[in-house]
Amino acid sequence: MNLPIIKKMEFKIALIGAGSRGTQYSSHALKHGGTKIVAVVDPNEFRRNIAAEKFNIDPKNCFPGVDELLERGVEFDGVINGTMDNMHVKTTLPLLQRGKCVMLEKPMCLNKDELFELYNTTVKYNAKLMVCHVLRYTPFYSAIKQRVVNGEIGEIKHIYASESVANYHMAAAFIRGKWGNSVECGSKILMAKSCHDMDLLTWFKSGVRPVKVSSMGSLFEYKAEKAPEGAGKKCLVDCKIESDCPYSANLNYLKRDDFDVYSWRAILEKGTDLSGKTIPFEEKVKYLKSDDRFGRCVYYLDNDQYDTQNVSVQFEDGSVATFGLDAGTPYGERYIRLEGTKGMIIGQFMKQQFIIRKPKLDLDEKYTEEVVDINCSLDGHGGGDTRIIGDFINLALGNETSISCTSIEDSMYGHLIGFNADISINEERIVRIEKL
Ligand SMILES: NC(=O)c1ccc[n+]([C@@H]2O[C@H](COP(=O)([O-])OP(=O)(O)OC[C@H]3O[C@@H](n4cnc5c(N)ncnc54)[C@H](O)[C@@H]3O)[C@@H](O)[C@H]2O)c1
Repeated sequence: MNLPIIKKMEFKIALIGAGSRGTQYSSHALKHGGTKIVAVVDPNEFRRNIAAEKFNIDPKNCFPGVDELLERGVEFDGVINGTMDNMHVKTTLPLLQRGKCVMLEKPMCLNKDELFELYNTTVKYNAKLMVCHVLRYTPFYSAIKQRVVNGEIGEIKHIYASESVANYHMAAAFIRGKWGNSVECGSKILMAKSCHDMDLLTWFKSGVRPVKVSSMGSLFEYKAEKAPEGAGKKCLVDCKIESDCPYSANLNYLKRDDFDVYSWRAILEKGTDLSGKTIPFEEKVKYLKSDDRFGRCVYYLDNDQYDTQNVSVQFEDGSVATFGLDAGTPYGERYIRLEGTKGMIIGQFMKQQFIIRKPKLDLDEKYTEEVVDINCSLDGHGGGDTRIIGDFINLALGNETSISCTSIEDSMYGHLIGFNADISINEERIVRIEKL
């Protein structure tokens, strides 16, 4: 995998939010030579100290809040903001108002008012705001984008995209997890999960404005009336079908334990470690038998996120995009199909493969077919996490950036599609998308 080339050899980063994503991005940042994490902001002292130790940050530059960072006059060239969705605006605005360059996790914010506040502040203070649209940075999607930019399939008439969220992922992040209840976390699943996909739609159509959107969706499965016969309220306490259930807490959190930062969050936030791997087994069992969400049946919780949703978008040139989100599938996958005036591209993300078909003016064969295999590990969003940081550094330094780095306007339109799609469901109407 080629990393973006960075010309200046020193780049100082302030990390805001030393949680899971913020720490991961900071580690990826260090893969680019000359980069240093010089300050950390997190109200959680334990996490702040872990980050300080991990990144060798001077204790004088560790703060509980962004205001303190700014008041102390610490020098830095860019910011990684890895706070949770509902903290993004509060922690980013003061930085933008100082003209800083901020890399902000997705979704940028919780609603359209906050979105415009971020955008207007970025423009007013001539700051730079880059959203962590990591899919754009994966070799898979950036190779497809390059073919589109090369004009190989002509103008895009229709984009079909879909995301399937695996059952274990849906349970850990949404039904039982911190995005389980949209009122509490502030984000609907479309923006919390498929924000990346909304972004891909506008990125592939970059420069062409989306003008209207409609959406339908529902919580189809994870509710009491869909509970299978024999299901109890708690997997380890009263469930008769636990050993046959893909949502079993025993299977997912004791045996597999893939989503440890989510499942053991309540324990981790008390401050013993960043990973759940070191928590004693007996403590985990006790915890799953308690009233905590992770030991409870996925059919009997207060989750309200949709597990099925579609989104239809029309762009100003008449082209359209269709997106489908399905949660609870056997594995996580993304498909993309771009129908152009001169050809089509069909891609399957987890297979890391796409096919380009173009018309062939031949009597026997009516089209050509090229199969492109992306030989890349899927770790860190298929290499996207490291590449996005490289581009962020280049953006902050005013260096040339890659085709994955587009304007804040594209990010805005992707977010506007998502927020307006949820309005479309609530108000049962097609919604016009605001013009920037
Ligand atoms: N790009 C992706 O694919 C992807 C994947 C997962 C999560 N995310 C996004 O990343 C963000 C962070 O998620 P996470 O799971 O890493 O969260 P996390 O809870 O692990 O980390 C958030 C950190 O922010 C800290 N914090 C809270 N208030 C703060 C403040 N005022 N100032 C500074 N720090 C503060 C918390 O103490 C915590 O350490 C979310 O917006 C989430 O949607 C993106």
